[in-house]
Amino acid sequence: MDGVRGHALLLPFPAQGHINPLMQLAKILIANHFVVTFVNTDFIEKRLNNKSSEYMSFQSFPDGLPPEHGRTLKLPELCESLQKHGPFHVENIVEKIMQSLRVPPLTIIVADGVFSFTQQIADKFGVPRVAFWTTSACGFSAYYYMPLLIEQGYIPLKDDSGSCKNDVISCIPEMEALRVKDLPSFLTVTDAEDYMFQYLLREAQNTHQASLVLLNTFQELEGPVLRDLNAKFGNKVLSIGPLLLSSACYGDLIADTKSSIWNEETSCLEWLDKQQESSVIYVCFGSIAVLSDEELVEFAWGLEASNQTFLWVIRPDLVRGSSAVLPGEFLERTKERGFFVAWAPQIKVLSHPSVGGFLTHSGWNSTIESISYGVPMISSPFFAEQPTNRRFVDDVWKVGYEMRENVLREEVEALVRKLMNLGEEQGREMRFRLKILKERAVASVKVGGASYKNMQDFLRQMQMKMKIGN
Ligand code: UDX
Repeated sequence: MDGVRGHALLLPFPAQGHINPLMQLAKILIANHFVVTFVNTDFIEKRLNNKSSEYMSFQSFPDGLPPEHGRTLKLPELCESLQKHGPFHVENIVEKIMQSLRVPPLTIIVADGVFSFTQQIADKFGVPRVAFWTTSACGFSAYYYMPLLIEQGYIPLKDDSGSCKNDVISCIPEMEALRVKDLPSFLTVTDAEDYMFQYLLREAQNTHQASLVLLNTFQELEGPVLRDLNAKFGNKVLSIGPLLLSSACYGDLIADTKSSIWNEETSCLEWLDKQQESSVIYVCFGSIAVLSDEELVEFAWGLEASNQTFLWVIRPDLVRGSSAVLPGEFLERTKERGFFVAWAPQIKVLSHPSVGGFLTHSGWNSTIESISYGVPMISSPFFAEQPTNRRFVDDVWKVGYEMRENVLREEVEALVRKLMNLGEEQGREMRFRLKILKERAVASVKVGGASYKNMQDFLRQMQMKMKIGN
């Protein structure tokens, strides 16, 4: 394997919103003459079933949970089990690579930001650890400033009455006018011993030990927050996104590698081809969020009343505790203008000219994908740093509308109509802002752009560390 610049081990948290950006990074590394070992859990690997190739090998390890466990539907249990079983198995995988004569020695570990346990492994084998937080910069900043939010008494919440949810937080630099309700859901709990509260508090602080911090965002979008993070992390925070755009710039040496843990139903693309330009609202709540039966029905009747054409992703596990059952009358009334899939080729959908709006849960990948293709959003966050993303989408970047916590069909109808009929003044301004952000996203990953430069800097630092053998 002459000309190989290095060997990177990539380890995402086993969830779709973490696997996708790490897979996009893998494509870029391989296109830049790095060899990649991609490590998933057995549960994920069985669903992706990827075959190793000359440039990329796949390894996996047991997450310690029984096959029938809900995993991302029971996040604290998944996180706890990975903390218990991950170190042993990942160390074994690294050891085998180091002892192998068939692949170049590992020169770097790029681990999910929530897997700081890899630091000890990296230190043992003398390779740098890079922390890749798959959240937005604003989302990571909220996690990073948890000690300050605790000291100022904002978190944990004094009670769950919601009385403080509109309190404005002014102590986090560059996070203008954040309200308590905009904080990641893992922070707005009443019990300081809550597992996820302690988990994120610890993992965010452990990021200081990493050699570099990667974020899938771009300077022109989150510049102020990135500047503050770099002031706190000694300039080792690199914004290298949107990775979906930069990875598309390279030839696809791993074209047949799967990233989606569900099967993408491409039938919706042919259906989109038959629709008018910008006439379809795409409705999707990511890979983990779950709705109650009532919420599902409220979204359904709101979409029906909006009289808009829609493409709706109904994952098999979308409704808490049961499969999604949509009212028969709703299906009858919308059969001419509604299309349903269990899982969509989302990037192809968002880049399709017929899609004019996105009703989203504000997961970071969905958000940056929507911005990258200039699609305005309705933000209906559920958990994690989705509330923080919503705040920035709706009130800082002003490229979306905020949906209130309690889903009501009347509000769904009103917001969908507003989003899809952006002809009036406010709509034109929003579309203009999106056009600018989309252009800046594309420019950032092209030669001369900030993300392009950061990526080259990252590759150079990776190679340098390989050269000096640490
Ligand atoms: C999770 C958290 O929710 C999110 O807040 C965090 O930033 C990342 O981890 P997830 O809920 O899955 O992510 O949402 P998101 O970040 O949007 O990632 C979903 C990914 O799956 C996106 O890349 C999207 O393109 C893809 N997707 C989603 C599909 O390919 N098809 C679908 O039907 C739905």
